[in-house]
Amino acid sequence: MKQIRSLALEADISDTRFDLRLLDQTLLPNQEKWMTIETNEQMIEAIQALRVRGAPLIGVAASLMIGKLAFEKSDESIDKETLLEQARQLYEARPTAVNLMICVDRMTAKIKQTNSVQEIVDLAVQIFDEDVQLCSRIADNGAALIEDGDRILTHCNTGGLATAGVGTALGVLRRAHEQGKNIHVYVDETRPLLQGGRLTAWELTKLGIPCTLITDNMAAHLMSLGKITKAIVGADRIATNGDFANKIGTYSVAVNCHYHRIPFYIAAPYTTLDPECSSGEQIPIEQRKSSEVRGFGDFMWAPEKIEVYNPSFDVTPHPLVEAWILDKAVYNKNDVKNGVFK
Ligand code: MRU
Repeated sequence: MKQIRSLALEADISDTRFDLRLLDQTLLPNQEKWMTIETNEQMIEAIQALRVRGAPLIGVAASLMIGKLAFEKSDESIDKETLLEQARQLYEARPTAVNLMICVDRMTAKIKQTNSVQEIVDLAVQIFDEDVQLCSRIADNGAALIEDGDRILTHCNTGGLATAGVGTALGVLRRAHEQGKNIHVYVDETRPLLQGGRLTAWELTKLGIPCTLITDNMAAHLMSLGKITKAIVGADRIATNGDFANKIGTYSVAVNCHYHRIPFYIAAPYTTLDPECSSGEQIPIEQRKSSEVRGFGDFMWAPEKIEVYNPSFDVTPHPLVEAWILDKAVYNKNDVKNGVFK
């Protein structure tokens, strides 16, 4: 089975090694360059610049970073105050994906509760391993919904690059393909940072899954031609009423599916559920810099002085969702209405 990985941990606690390496996703698909993360500042920069990205993966990466920081203090006693402050900085690196906060909260509770470096490191590694398992369960649950001959639209990148495992929405498609189902994936380019065109296209090509790249504004046209049978996306935060935030443009996909009566699914681990958030209105939306919309990389095509609006995520209201594919089960509208996410 092919592996898509973007986070590597080479650690041996009995030795002195805790090497944390990231595949710099800003350079894909043109360059596959791994970078070593030494400091908390480097990890925060990597999260904010989207070198490491995707809701589940930033939670895992932050946890491993805290594990590394604790490990490096193992010959002295842990400076809990400093470690808690570093954890707080990681918590605040990006605001929308709740996985980051949930994972950092788990690490913070452990730091408060123990003086053992081993226990802190073990929890970080456990969070990594758990994500691999969660992805696999999501893939199994979701693949059962995919039918032979399906032509499926996806948005952003939700695969091995966005998680520690096979991915969420993309993991479902991968599992269906591995089961021998004849599927075709339509990949939304995903403006402005092209997670679809650069990353999902890269993953699907590597995995040999039949796919076609489109720009985001082509999806409705394809639907009107009857070329899309299902849509499946990931999530950055799910409210208890089923509303969810995901990459900007997801809401348009859901509205277009609704108009064309195409089932629209989301796939996510339980670490994306926010029990404190009762509706999408409460989800904080990250605003990003204008240069991401004015151009790409160093090349700018819009005037420097133009006013730009660049929210990184939007919220899709729960009535537009056919089902929520989680690691535990697939939930329908009634399940969600009856409070399964509370
Ligand atoms: O800004 P990004 O690239 O981190 O946004 C990622 C997404 O919106 C994904 O769809 C979401 O995190 C789910 S990834 C399994």
